[in-house]
Amino acid sequence: MSSNAHNTHTGETCRLELGSKSYELPVITGTQQEKAIDITSLRAKSGYITLDSGYGNTGSTQSEVTYIDGENGVLKYRGIPVEVLAEKSDFVETSYLLVYGKLPTADELSAFRKQLTYHSLIHEDMLSFYDGYPPQAHPMAILSSMVCSLSTYYPDSLDPNDEEQVKRIVPRLLSKLRTIAAYSFKKSIGQPVIYPKNDLSFCENFLYMMFAVPSESYEVDPEWVKTLNMLFILHGDHEQNCSTSTVRLVGSSDANLFASISAGICALWGPKHGGANQAVIEMLERIHKDGGNVDAVIRRAKDRRDPFRLSGFGHRVYKNFDPRAKVIKSACDRILGTLGVHDPLLDIAKRIEELALSDTYFLERKLYPNVDFYSGILYRVMGIPTEMFTVMFALGRLPGWIAHWLEMKRRGEQIGRPRQIYQGGVDVPYVPLAER
Ligand code: ACO
Repeated sequence: MSSNAHNTHTGETCRLELGSKSYELPVITGTQQEKAIDITSLRAKSGYITLDSGYGNTGSTQSEVTYIDGENGVLKYRGIPVEVLAEKSDFVETSYLLVYGKLPTADELSAFRKQLTYHSLIHEDMLSFYDGYPPQAHPMAILSSMVCSLSTYYPDSLDPNDEEQVKRIVPRLLSKLRTIAAYSFKKSIGQPVIYPKNDLSFCENFLYMMFAVPSESYEVDPEWVKTLNMLFILHGDHEQNCSTSTVRLVGSSDANLFASISAGICALWGPKHGGANQAVIEMLERIHKDGGNVDAVIRRAKDRRDPFRLSGFGHRVYKNFDPRAKVIKSACDRILGTLGVHDPLLDIAKRIEELALSDTYFLERKLYPNVDFYSGILYRVMGIPTEMFTVMFALGRLPGWIAHWLEMKRRGEQIGRPRQIYQGGVDVPYVPLAER
């Protein structure tokens, strides 16, 4: 295959030679000069498909939501660096930016905040659903089921091709996911659910629903509100990752937004994806309990015969520091310092990072701490239980999922349907049962 730039503007093409035939394929250039060979017409013209297990080289769409430069550790939402948003914005404003494509004016922001407040309750009948789960039910399973169940209560929001219905479902879901998550925590510890309060901000309300009890008054700590805003912003979007691609694939069949997001929550649950934040803390706790032998853990992670992997390390796209991990690590130092909290797990995490980043195994494979490596330490100090960590990730990621779902709809994309190369048996005879 040879790539040659000719013509101007969109004219770059790629020539693919297959036997005696040659095919000219257009090259697409992004606003940050990323390049893609457009193979949309390849199969129709040549009979060939491309094979890319894990999609490491496959672009599924052209998007305006998020830009990542994995080699240089850059992450921007709608063109704005995530570090800037983490410092200057709050989660509601960043959600608006992701979902609607621009920073809101003061009026737009205030209307959006009002909508999120207005939609914060869930149908009272849904409370009884929580009673049906066993006490040890993982909150990600509950979250996904409850979100899908919303589709049974809001039939006026389900048509993905009706603009008015889509307008309604977006703030509805953004607001209710937070309530569903907090209620699931309350149910898991046997406390009554705490209804949201309309005079509290988005993140304040979440912490209030999580930690208040009806028998006494509860003041939400502003430091935790700030920290939660920052963590949610950092989780806000990450372009075509596993859960976002799931949301898009499910949505591409014209499934409603509740169903699409419910599927995305399941995809996020896996320990290779969002479930890694829970796995990190469990790993750090194990190391601490076993006497803190970090060298042994590094040795295990490097042993290719051992399936153990260092949770919170490595990333499909980042081959450099994950910019989100940098922000969270410095927030950990600052907040734990201010609170005077000494967390031995933070010491272990830093020691792992130090050893890994001076070890050729990790350097050669470009394995750096990812967003999940330090986030759990903050959630822990905040009082969030370990099983809820991935739920926290889902709350932060929701605006990103919605942004991509909306973008896909607006672009009128086709149903997602990858192909395959069949490698199974050919003309296999049916052998009657008695002769097998
Ligand atoms: N610890 C030890 N070795 C690792 C790790 C790790 N955490 N991650 C990758 N490697 C090694 C692999 O064994 C492989 O080694 P090899 O070349 O000798 O076979 C090499 O690095 C490349 O790894 P791949 O699995 O091919 O990389 P991929 O891009 O497919 O995987 C992933 C990325 C899934 C994130 C992986 O790094 C991993 O499992 N990390 C731990 C789980 C984790 O933290 N996930 C959260 C990711 S961030 C997010 O989703 C929010």
